[in-house]
Amino acid sequence: MRILMLATLVASATAVAVGYGWLWWKSARLVRACLKQGIQGISLSLFQTAAYADRWSWELLKNVQHYEKIFYVKSGQHVRLVVLDPVTVQHVLTLNASCYEKASFVKILEILGNGVFSASGNDWMNQRQLLSPTFFMRELKDNFGIIKATVKDYLECLCTHDTAVVDVHKIFSTLAVKLIYQVAFGESLDDKSAFMVYKRFDNYLHQRKHAFCGPFFNLFGFRWKSWGSVEDETYLLRVIRELVSTRRQRSSSQCTKAKLAIDILIEDLERCEKSGSNVVLDNSATLLLAGHETTANLVTWAVYLLGTHLNLQDEARLEVQGIKDLDMKNVSQLKVLGMILWETLRLYPPQPLIGRRCIEDNTVNGVFVPKDMEVIIPVSAIHRSVDLWGHDSEDFKPYRFANGINKAYRVPSSFLPFGSGPRTCIGQSLALLEAKTILYYMLKHYSWEISPGYQHFPDVTLTLLPRFGMPILLFRL
Ligand code: HEM
Repeated sequence: MRILMLATLVASATAVAVGYGWLWWKSARLVRACLKQGIQGISLSLFQTAAYADRWSWELLKNVQHYEKIFYVKSGQHVRLVVLDPVTVQHVLTLNASCYEKASFVKILEILGNGVFSASGNDWMNQRQLLSPTFFMRELKDNFGIIKATVKDYLECLCTHDTAVVDVHKIFSTLAVKLIYQVAFGESLDDKSAFMVYKRFDNYLHQRKHAFCGPFFNLFGFRWKSWGSVEDETYLLRVIRELVSTRRQRSSSQCTKAKLAIDILIEDLERCEKSGSNVVLDNSATLLLAGHETTANLVTWAVYLLGTHLNLQDEARLEVQGIKDLDMKNVSQLKVLGMILWETLRLYPPQPLIGRRCIEDNTVNGVFVPKDMEVIIPVSAIHRSVDLWGHDSEDFKPYRFANGINKAYRVPSSFLPFGSGPRTCIGQSLALLEAKTILYYMLKHYSWEISPGYQHFPDVTLTLLPRFGMPILLFRL
């Protein structure tokens, strides 16, 4: 018996040693590949990585522009190349895109499963071909009436007195959940349930980020999950299952509207008889998350910037007052509002990091990238680079976009709020349409200032959000 226990102990110790040795060898190989090409970097221990969890946040991200144009960060078993040069970025995202898949940090959101955001290869291509047409402008036209009515009703009763203090981050997040429910799933959701969905996703993202940066995450394939994140995930999956089942019953009976993302997914599942496949659930979770977080953050930061640049708020209001009733035609005439949104996306990109994992040795812009290397593109730092955007790169100046997006910067691929290449965002037209509609009604009915209680703390989970919310002083016009 003792011999058996000893043998088990020795075998386990050997397995741990071999496992660590293998991980060490793998990361040492990637570091060597960097050093051989003269690429310098920093190594963080597992515990340092945990300590960086917060600082990986905003300050670190926007200031990496002061480092080399390309450098590596080794944290635990992962070696990541941080790339700031737009030409190299273009190689990774577009020209050599087939050599890359999504980075490991995307995979920590298990709730997204193998949906279009996280999948690779043919799985990704099939889902992308199915889903992206449902977000084309011509399809969105059919939904504009619903988007407008939902925004108008929700924002009109935001402030029942002459003035109020409201947290617009909470408000826009709840509204964005209601909108994606309508546009992607054809269902309406009451305010309380929409708030719960937003709050659960918010907690889930926060907890998964901290688990990912913690020392025990993914140790020998075991992914650490806190009790809170399991609870949030279970709640959200239940909501999504209910949504899919409601839609399934409805699609067989009284579905009349233009094709929605959810119907396309269900039809495909039934046509191909993909029994046991989670494609509908995974993509429903993906659309629900990707479709509300980013848009809500965009509008929140736009309100922040207009609350700190009151002259531009007045200019935007003047433009809005020139349009009596918003429709699909005149929404594109909101030029000042359009520039404000582009400039907000530049300074506060809702997705401030894009990550890839190299699946095949390749050379990008003269740099050899070996298989298994992760590449991080810090969008926020590229957007604030003095070299690319000029000496006023930190200032809020929407008119830099007056001659169109491409004329606003010096080097192609310097502006990546929606990514670039084959995996560019499928929801950008919807996001901009929703953002313009929300700001249209905000400017029409209210003026605002930032509340003295506001604490400026942009926080990076998967997206960039104000950690302590965005309280504003709202005045009814
Ligand atoms: C302001 C709002 C938005 C921003 C800034 C944004 C940003 C992005 C970015 C940067 C990517 C590329 C990620 C990468 O390359 O790794 C992306 C992908 C994606 N976005 Fe958005 N997004 C927004 C709104 C939306 C909306 C409203 C939807 C929902 C319909 C959506 C659905 C997706 C999906 C499904 C992908 C994955 C596409 C693929 O991998 O093929 N996004 N988004």
